[in-house]
Amino acid sequence: MGFIEFENITKSYDTSEIVIDHLSLTIPEGEFVTILGPSGCGKTTLLKMVNKLTPYSSGSITVDHKDIQDWDTIKLRRSIGYVIQQIGLLPHLSIEKNINYILNITKSDKKFRRGKAEELLELVGLSKDYLTRYPRELSGGQKQRVGVARALAADPKIILMDEPFGAVDEIARTALQDEILNIHKKLKKTILFVTHDIQEAIKLGTTIVLMNDGKIEQVGTKEDLIFSPANDFVREFFGIKGFQATLDKSILRDLYKRILTKEESIETLYQKLKS
Ligand SMILES: Nc1ncnc2c1ncn2[C@@H]1O[C@H](COP(=O)(O)OP(=O)(O)O)[C@@H](O)[C@H]1O
Ligand SMILES: [Mg+2]
Repeated sequence: MGFIEFENITKSYDTSEIVIDHLSLTIPEGEFVTILGPSGCGKTTLLKMVNKLTPYSSGSITVDHKDIQDWDTIKLRRSIGYVIQQIGLLPHLSIEKNINYILNITKSDKKFRRGKAEELLELVGLSKDYLTRYPRELSGGQKQRVGVARALAADPKIILMDEPFGAVDEIARTALQDEILNIHKKLKKTILFVTHDIQEAIKLGTTIVLMNDGKIEQVGTKEDLIFSPANDFVREFFGIKGFQATLDKSILRDLYKRILTKEESIETLYQKLKS
């Protein structure tokens, strides 16, 4: 469970401008896909189509091999968690109630709900002391953690995230990124994560989708996009900046140590690895 397929999707908000242009994309179960691209290229629009918040003009989208038009909308949304930048916690409800908002509606018993909320808070790195607090008592980063916990409450197979950490400070963002990577490793959800931040896309995505102007320029691993760019747009978008972004921790650390001598610059190494 958690398979998503876009087939030849087209979208215009009004008659003049095409926002999504004959886009096809297959997302296997359990994948962590980052959707990257400049502002206005259609990332949010694409994401909101999956849980039927935005209709498309033509083409089809299937979730678990069933056309989303054939899915009951409520049922579909319950199987898809959704996290956005301004997560909109309900101010008059405690954190526990905010997390279990969905479960409350289905009237599961109180002890179960408390246990569930504790478990979810722990998963997103907050102590259970927060259960009885109110949203106004939390920092921006903590609120986003609660937002992630809430998205996980109904145990969805898919999580859609739209620049979820865009408004929090850098330290909180790094911590939240690490947390979501852990959650993905632990729970094996399919995650579709929109960002315009190349570093974030590289750090999180097992697959990166680079969009521009309503189209996909390239789909692949970070290595694919950095070292085998499909066209000039990808080359320019990633280039040295993308390469540098990988140097922190991941794949290139060893290479970096082996190849880069003291007097060499990152540029030289980049050229070396490319050739
Ligand atoms: N509700 C809307 N009505 C009309 N145009 C919209 C609406 N939402 C987005 N757009 C336009 O669609 C394009 C893609 O927007 P969006 O999907 O939000 O891009 P991104 O998330 O990549 O920044 C932009 O040109 C934007 O102005
Ligand atoms: Mg957007």
